[in-house]
Amino acid sequence: LEVDINNKIAEIQPTMYGVFFEDINFAADGGLYAEMIKNRSFEFTVDPFLGWIQPNSDRHSFNNNSGIGSIVKYADNPGNTNFIRVKVNNDQGYQLINEGFRGMGIKEGESYNLYLSAAKHSGNISKINVQFIGENNVVLGETSVDVTSSDWTDYTAQITANKTLAKAKLKFTFEGTGEIDLDMISLFPVDTWKGREKGLRKDLVQLLYDLDPGFLRFPGGCIVEGRTLARRYQWKKTVGPIENREVLVNRWNTEFSHRLTPDYYQSFGLGFFEYFQLSEDLGAEPLPILSCGMACQFNSGELVPMDELDPYIQDAIDLIEFANGSIDTPWGKLRNEMGHSEPFNLKYIGVGNEQWGPDYIDRYKVFGQAIKAKYPDMIIVSGSGPFPDGDYFEYGMEELKKLNAEIIDEHYYRSPEWFRENATRYDSYDRKGPKIFAGEYAAQSVAIASPENKNNWECAFSEAAFITGLERNAEVVNLTSYAPLMAHEEGWQWTPDMIWFNNLQSYGTANYQVQKLFSTNRGTDLISVTSAGKDLTGQNELYASAVTDSGTNEVIVKVVNTSNQSQEVAINLKGKKVYKKGELIVLKSEHLEDENSFENPDKIVPVTAEIQNRGGKLSVELQPYSVSVFKFKIR
Ligand code: AHR
Repeated sequence: LEVDINNKIAEIQPTMYGVFFEDINFAADGGLYAEMIKNRSFEFTVDPFLGWIQPNSDRHSFNNNSGIGSIVKYADNPGNTNFIRVKVNNDQGYQLINEGFRGMGIKEGESYNLYLSAAKHSGNISKINVQFIGENNVVLGETSVDVTSSDWTDYTAQITANKTLAKAKLKFTFEGTGEIDLDMISLFPVDTWKGREKGLRKDLVQLLYDLDPGFLRFPGGCIVEGRTLARRYQWKKTVGPIENREVLVNRWNTEFSHRLTPDYYQSFGLGFFEYFQLSEDLGAEPLPILSCGMACQFNSGELVPMDELDPYIQDAIDLIEFANGSIDTPWGKLRNEMGHSEPFNLKYIGVGNEQWGPDYIDRYKVFGQAIKAKYPDMIIVSGSGPFPDGDYFEYGMEELKKLNAEIIDEHYYRSPEWFRENATRYDSYDRKGPKIFAGEYAAQSVAIASPENKNNWECAFSEAAFITGLERNAEVVNLTSYAPLMAHEEGWQWTPDMIWFNNLQSYGTANYQVQKLFSTNRGTDLISVTSAGKDLTGQNELYASAVTDSGTNEVIVKVVNTSNQSQEVAINLKGKKVYKKGELIVLKSEHLEDENSFENPDKIVPVTAEIQNRGGKLSVELQPYSVSVFKFKIR
């Protein structure tokens, strides 16, 4: 392999490797958002008691001697319509229990903050006792709240777990009899990411942080579009006080997915402010994607007529003000009130997710014009259909080129072979065309989104082979992200996913390790690596790309061996003096079907060793099914 350190082909954009976040697979509620109470404000439309258990009932009972909870509607509160009125007849008997998101993960010795709003309605209820319970109602920690007022009042308490359990529940009992109103019952670990109250799950953010992502795309995915327009993602409903954020049935709720998740709703506790804040924490460019007035074309395909698009466009304009505007502007003021006076420095905005055909192009045009008229420097990401080799895709690409689109978001969910065979996808792409955002991709071991799909090593190294192709084309490929990002072991709708978690644990898949390897070795400049004068794009089942890093003064060469044989290659690093000693990082596994798992999260992880060259030359044995990264300092 000839590596020409002086042959700088293009800059590697800092955004080259990022993350795509969507609230699918319980990634937000029940996942990254550390709230442990499911249906905290009794707003789930299919059943406002979902997640809550009353005495003598699997779910809830409407008629029990010890007491009863009933849903009451506020006279006027569009963001939060319901609360529960608990009538306690017998203070020894009545219990209200929350089951959490497939249970609550509690850790011995750790403390949890409880929040609730309460108002005495009648009688003499004076205290609420709160307990973690395990199997057979064994108590695993307890606290209490003294209720003092008949006006709505916010109460807090702290509860410490005396045992570790993945599936605890939270039980409420009452002292006194009568009626008490309750709402916004929340429980969060004290130990969240950055210690923020009501914040994010620390282990999950850490996994994202370790990827060093160049951007954070949010909030999806299909949930941007909604199955119907009424159920699209509306960012304005996700900012401000959390109790006023209107709960919405998730687009990935039962009837639209492979798994039974009738309890899948969006509380929007993780809303647009929190996404911007997370982007900042990760050092990633925020990349919001907004509805363009088209509901999901796989579902209703509902369209906003062109002459009624204004509110949708205004949402985009106002979002830019929310992110970047001075605190004297209406939306900038709200950002400031939420705790961020400085702008979030939003540079990119996406118009529509996976929409296609003339309807999309018509809408993209007016969005683009309106955004650019007010914010000429804003970079607009346009969608493309989900079929990377279909007619609509070709049509969309052609039309978007004519419109001088800046970045096109392409999605590929294909077989591992497809990924290996498409490492050359952008080799002949028009260098003057729109830049590419490989916005969602993942090799599917069985078929797209099949429940049988695995995050296996064949998928992961095939993605690595493909990524060398993305990197070799960094001149046009500016952003890339695997999708979906996260999945709860018991609450998923889509496989494969990059990070798996349950209520206590989380791990990065082999695909995660591939992403991390490329992202943390992204470099700053693309250079050439050739074999017999040609790019290495699958000859002898080998793939390669190379970069230099002007910050660390390194040359970094990535070689993927997708064959089942070890292969010896000679590497010649020419053009600059190279330090003798360097580093070789190898990610490999023996079998195509190998995977990381909760039991063995580190089965496939990189191993680093020292390596030496002589005058820039070295000979190495590439392991079967391996991804190797060679790094040397240069001067
Ligand atoms: O990543 C899962 C889904 O795949 C996304 O929501 C959608 O954009 C794509 O079809």
